[in-house]
Amino acid sequence: MQHLLTNRERNSSRRRLSLSTPTSTDFSSNDFLSLSTSSALRTAYLAELTASSHIPLGSGGSRLLDGNSTYAEDIEKDIAEFHNAPAALLFNSGFDANSGIFSCLPQLGDVVLYDEYIHASVHEGMKLSRAGVRRKFVHNSVKEFTRVLGEVVQCDELVREGKRNVFVAVESVYSMDGDVAPIVEILDILDDRLPLGNGHLIVDEAHSTGVFGDHGRGLVCALGVEDRVLARLHTFGKALSSGGAVVLCPPIMREYLINYARSLIYTTAMGLPTLTMIKTVHRFIRQGETQSAQKQLWYLISYLNEKLLQLPDTPFLDVPKELSKSPIFSLVTPYPRSLANFCQSKGFVVRPIVPPTVPTGGQRVRVCLHSGNTTSEVDQLVELVRIWIEKQHGAESEDPSTALKASRGHGGVNSARL
Ligand SMILES: Cc1ncc(COP(=O)(O)O)c(C=O)c1O
Repeated sequence: MQHLLTNRERNSSRRRLSLSTPTSTDFSSNDFLSLSTSSALRTAYLAELTASSHIPLGSGGSRLLDGNSTYAEDIEKDIAEFHNAPAALLFNSGFDANSGIFSCLPQLGDVVLYDEYIHASVHEGMKLSRAGVRRKFVHNSVKEFTRVLGEVVQCDELVREGKRNVFVAVESVYSMDGDVAPIVEILDILDDRLPLGNGHLIVDEAHSTGVFGDHGRGLVCALGVEDRVLARLHTFGKALSSGGAVVLCPPIMREYLINYARSLIYTTAMGLPTLTMIKTVHRFIRQGETQSAQKQLWYLISYLNEKLLQLPDTPFLDVPKELSKSPIFSLVTPYPRSLANFCQSKGFVVRPIVPPTVPTGGQRVRVCLHSGNTTSEVDQLVELVRIWIEKQHGAESEDPSTALKASRGHGGVNSARL
């Protein structure tokens, strides 16, 4: 263990748990709608918990044994209806849901195509799956997806004959880049190349839940393609400030997962506190209680976009050339730790993201907006980035290698970009 940890230390890739100071400004968490500090939500949650005092606190077992309840089943029905889906199945986490789906759904010889930036939980599932072919395609590239699918169709007679399934895994919004998947284009290509209906898209909506679409129903609903997507995953731990996840899918798939998804079968089901929180927050969003937060979040997204475009061109930071279409912004820099440390020292929490979480050369500072952020906080953050850039230029003009050394001192990573 020590040897491996030391290696990571040496490669500047050792992970550590950290604590944020309570007074710092959050530009990092996935609490997009700032619901985790909503006193209205807390009050509603406690009232719902009290109203459910006849229900045991703990679930008592796996969903398949003693852990099921009408309370959980009613939540599933409500959520399915809200998202215009035929059925819903709760999982203890999004990680469990993805690993469950991708480990058991592909049958022997089936094909899984996945965006190269797909979440680790999908990889976890694929590792256990019986799929014959697992192929990645270049992130968000419709052209590359078409090419990879074309190769699969050409090489595999059973795929052409509709006797072998092709599952495609994408995220609505990618957690590190904040960009949005070309869902309609992918669906059109699947229909075109697999007209017998054996192409199935599975969309992870973890970062679009609560943020995209009417009442935060997610990107698939916003695009109106609910009927064309096999399954959707919504997680509750991000914008909905709760925990757990739900898979929206046809009833047959729900039954199949209940029978085969080990991450559902062999774990204790969510207890009342979590279920109550999910129920409360869903009532909140259905009743439109989060709509002003959603609107404010989108206002801040355009505000930060505008501010970032005003930053100077510099080798120390790749200012995004394209506007971000989500609350997640990535400030690509060879010195992510230096920039993040600087902002953190001034009370603004942003995180450095380094390989292997992102590809080498793609190291960045991830900035995440929340409806509770103010425009003044956004101004201050952008000003800090500007000051940091100036400091880097100053250090470089004194000694061209100073900036690099300083950054390495903070555990910065080397980059091909400079
Ligand atoms: C895209 C994506 N899918 C799934 C998950 C896992 O969800 P959960 O946190 O509920 O386990 C995450 C992050 O945590 C995620 O970013």
